[in-house]
Amino acid sequence: MFHSLYHLIFFVWTFMSITNNTVTPKCFPQTDSTIDFSKWACNNITLSRDNPDLQTVNTTHLRGFGFYFSQGQVDSTLLKNFTELKNFFIDVSKLDRFEFKSDSLKNFLFARTEVPQGSNFANCCIALEKLIVKSSKGLELEHEGFTGLKRLKSLYIKDQNIKHITRNTFIGLCKLKQLSLINNSIDTIQEDSFVDLVNLRELYIEDNTLKSIHQKAFEPLSHLRSLTVYGNNLEPLPLWMFKNQNKLREIGLPFKTWTDIDIEKFPMMFPELGFFSYKSGTESHGEIEYVRRKHKKLVTLLFRDKDT
Ligand SMILES: *[C@@H]1O[C@H](CO)[C@@H](O)[C@H](O)[C@H]1NC(C)=O
Ligand SMILES: *[C@@H]1O[C@H](CO)[C@@H](O)[C@H](O)[C@H]1NC(C)=O
Ligand SMILES: *[C@@H]1O[C@H](CO)[C@@H](O)[C@H](O)[C@H]1NC(C)=O
Ligand SMILES: *[C@@H]1O[C@H](CO)[C@@H](O)[C@H](O)[C@H]1NC(C)=O
Repeated sequence: MFHSLYHLIFFVWTFMSITNNTVTPKCFPQTDSTIDFSKWACNNITLSRDNPDLQTVNTTHLRGFGFYFSQGQVDSTLLKNFTELKNFFIDVSKLDRFEFKSDSLKNFLFARTEVPQGSNFANCCIALEKLIVKSSKGLELEHEGFTGLKRLKSLYIKDQNIKHITRNTFIGLCKLKQLSLINNSIDTIQEDSFVDLVNLRELYIEDNTLKSIHQKAFEPLSHLRSLTVYGNNLEPLPLWMFKNQNKLREIGLPFKTWTDIDIEKFPMMFPELGFFSYKSGTESHGEIEYVRRKHKKLVTLLFRDKDT
């Protein structure tokens, strides 16, 4: 469900950016029968406060806005008149300055955009609940890139080359429920990386180059329901690493970990678990068969436990 939602939202914006690529004028209202709020977009403009294109936007009750194929500067005053803005996107743009600020914004999609080295989202948006960052250049997200986003519930970071996760990466995000780090370059996760994420329900760390996860890294995540940690270079993860995750309903682990699992203990550790998955580097037929057989045993055990 989580993944399909992400794709849906991204698809809607992307689709519009392609179909409207050649439309003039440069800023125009978006007609979209699936939403009931007022929305505009700008194509290929140079961003600055006094750009006349930007002043054609009707900001009265404007809830959605964004731009693509644009350049120039995003500073804290650019959207000063957009006081009711809830949804905003920047797509395929190249900015000389990125100091975004909005007190009303709830959803922010930032994709395929180049910004000056070291830019981030810290303190940008006090009301922000959902942030998607994808395939962009220049952002510094490893070190306090999201501080001050106290209401953030969903954070998706994809194709960003993040390497190390430390305590500073997600510091203060105590309302966060969904965190997806799919297809970055994460190789280490330190002990206190998730220490503030006490409300996290879903964590997806897939298609990274994970080499080590501190064995206490998951300890603060006692409300976790879905977890995927695939990594071809990971040593088998000891199950006691997940001793605080007894509410898990879905788990995805590297193949090497499944081969180690004690199938007697496993269902007792995770009484609500219903969905398992794995990923291996080679995907050989033997491995697939092995895990399949193991899953069958696990499913049987789980159901028997539930019935009694
Ligand atoms: C943007 O507009 C300029 C002219 O103002 C044009 O040369 C360029 O091709 C446009 N770029 C895109 C991506 O539409
Ligand atoms: C904001 O609104 C005021 C009053 O309508 C207008 O004079 C001003 O140009 C607008 N500023 C921007 C950046 O659009
Ligand atoms: C601006 O938008 C508001 C709300 O959608 C609408 O009532 C108003 O007529 C619009 N103004 C112009 C000049 O189009
Ligand atoms: C993963 O991210 C890289 C850029 O960091 C990109 O080139 C590649 O296509 C992405 N792979 C997938 C499967 O999305």
